[in-house]
Amino acid sequence: MTVYKLPPIYSSEITPRDLFHDRRRFMQLAAGASLTALLPQNAFAGEPLAGVTKSTDRLIDELTPLKDITSYNNFYEFGTGKEDPAKNAGSLKTRPWTITVEGEANKPKVFDIEELLKLAPLEERIYRLRCVEAWSMVIPWVGYSLAALLKQVEPTGNAKFVEFISLHDPEQMQGQKSPTLNWPYKEGLRIDEAMHPLTLLAVGLYGEVLPNQNGAPIRIVVPWKYGFKSAKSIVKIRLVEKMPMSSWMEANSNEYGFYSNVNPDVDHARWSQAKERRIGEFLKRPTLPFNGYSEQVASLYSGMDLTKNF
Ligand code: MTE
Repeated sequence: MTVYKLPPIYSSEITPRDLFHDRRRFMQLAAGASLTALLPQNAFAGEPLAGVTKSTDRLIDELTPLKDITSYNNFYEFGTGKEDPAKNAGSLKTRPWTITVEGEANKPKVFDIEELLKLAPLEERIYRLRCVEAWSMVIPWVGYSLAALLKQVEPTGNAKFVEFISLHDPEQMQGQKSPTLNWPYKEGLRIDEAMHPLTLLAVGLYGEVLPNQNGAPIRIVVPWKYGFKSAKSIVKIRLVEKMPMSSWMEANSNEYGFYSNVNPDVDHARWSQAKERRIGEFLKRPTLPFNGYSEQVASLYSGMDLTKNF
């Protein structure tokens, strides 16, 4: 069994959580409406996000505890060990932050993070995350459909694919001083996958601002694909005509294809994908096609040979 590191201490946990929330509310009331806007809301990992619509999903799966979600991570910019991101991602500065949306768009634009936080109502979405390494978690993300952002820039008819590019700054991301991957981290989706309502632009989890190790201040979450498709700490989105290369395809195209839909029938080159270990559980459970989201997404791939388009 893996031994998990103690979780980092959040500002919300230095004082008991309720007291912290009460203190914030008091400060906001005391400051009055105009001053409230000046408070650094939504700024730091672990702070509560305001105005989040709670998920109404029937809870079939138990949520993975916050401490596991934030202490067992893949974020190679901060090291290749599962405990490295929690240890090292504190050096990431999440303000100021912008996302440039460019390429095949009538209205390309640079979005500031504060604008992105208000672009659409924040919703809680409980998604299963299945990593290609055959472990999984159940995470209550906070965000909104990526489609809401893409619609703002009006993709042209030539926009067939969407490329996501994570931050490249070896001073803040010490793992980028080693050539573990071809930096910056790059991922891609077909335009219909990117516009699918399940595809999330996430800014938080468990009702709080996204911890750095989970991809702060803003990341993609594509629940029916292996976790590596969900690029963290993104700074650029490019609408393109040709299928983009991802960092993992560049690293090993025999092992990592463009689609990377969760598929128990197609093995990874070095291991089976038939089962997975839910973090916190001992026995393995069967992996579901499209990670359990077949009903919503299987039609995107009708007529495609998913053993070739893995
Ligand atoms: N994004 C960036 N920029 N760098 C990474 O190393 N790892 C991916 C994905 N996004 C990764 C990334 C992998 S392999 C997984 S499984 C998920 O992030 C893990 O997300 P989590 O740590 O929030 O669970």
